Amino acid sequence: MEKINLTKYRLNHLIKYKLSKNVIATEGKIYYYPHKTNWTNEMKVLKMFYRDLTEDRVANIEFLSEYKKELESISSLVLPDALVSYYGKDRGIIMPYVENTNLADFLMFDDVDQTVKLRHLKEVGKILEEISLLRKYNSDLKDFAIGDLHEANTIIESSTNRIKFVDIDSAYTGSYISASKYLTLNINLESLSNKYPMNEDESIIPNEQTDLYCYHMMILNYMYRDNIADLPIDEFYYYLEYLKKIGMNKNFLESCSRLYTSQENINPKDYLDNIGVNVSRASRKIYEKCKDKIMNI
Ligand SMILES: Nc1ncnc2c1ncn2[C@@H]1O[C@H](COP(=O)(O)OP(=O)(O)O)[C@@H](O)[C@H]1O
Ligand SMILES: [Mg+2]
Repeated sequence: MEKINLTKYRLNHLIKYKLSKNVIATEGKIYYYPHKTNWTNEMKVLKMFYRDLTEDRVANIEFLSEYKKELESISSLVLPDALVSYYGKDRGIIMPYVENTNLADFLMFDDVDQTVKLRHLKEVGKILEEISLLRKYNSDLKDFAIGDLHEANTIIESSTNRIKFVDIDSAYTGSYISASKYLTLNINLESLSNKYPMNEDESIIPNEQTDLYCYHMMILNYMYRDNIADLPIDEFYYYLEYLKKIGMNKNFLESCSRLYTSQENINPKDYLDNIGVNVSRASRKIYEKCKDKIMNI
């Protein structure tokens, strides 16, 4: 992988990328990085980590570079272009800049129809399906998983209106495990070690099942308008019962109900075409207000 030496002078003259209110960068700062060669003049992005990258983290990023061609068959992945060295240490990555609306923001917009939001969420499911095929047909990528899949790592590219996944440097490629919004410290997953395996540090090892779990959390969080992954399992099932009572698509609910069982998770994307309910009724606020009345009908 190409390595770029970044000087303090250059870093000080880069413009910081402004994150919107629903997005937090946990690992580092993002900067616009104008990249000139003899032939091109492109806008890129620099992700400058708060700490030097560990060896296994660098190995993970280099794996992504080694399999760039294969991974690029999924055009929705924003892959790293180069490693950045700062004072002799690996500290960042350069990647293409994608002008976007963050999905975490988009899902909160009041003036956008729910069918449009669900269409974007459905596209996330399509990308997961493509990744599933990639795993199947390329044995070197059989362990590849997005890992930290969540709405803020998902963006809508302005020029194409298509979904892209960012933060791919933290994708799982076979050994290095990054923290994940929905998997890290999630006690609900602890006893399901066949489906959601853990390593000796008690970190969940991302796989197809965990990606599908995170995908369900993205959809359910959009409906619940809070973090559903935090709900104790029995309360989660009670909420699914409520959703059933208000008319939510049964296949979608069946798919959700598998998450905390030993049954394999499935991709619910096709059920989003016909969700069967105005999702505003699924919000935590409305749910807490109406659940006793609705559940007794
Ligand atoms: N290549 C990119 N183009 C445009 N925006 C990006 C790009 N990469 C990241 N971002 C934005 O910056 C945010 C933080 O980047 P991310 O890689 O997720 O950092 P962290 O690992 O700290 O979560 C993302 O949620 C996204 O909004
Ligand atoms: Mg992120």
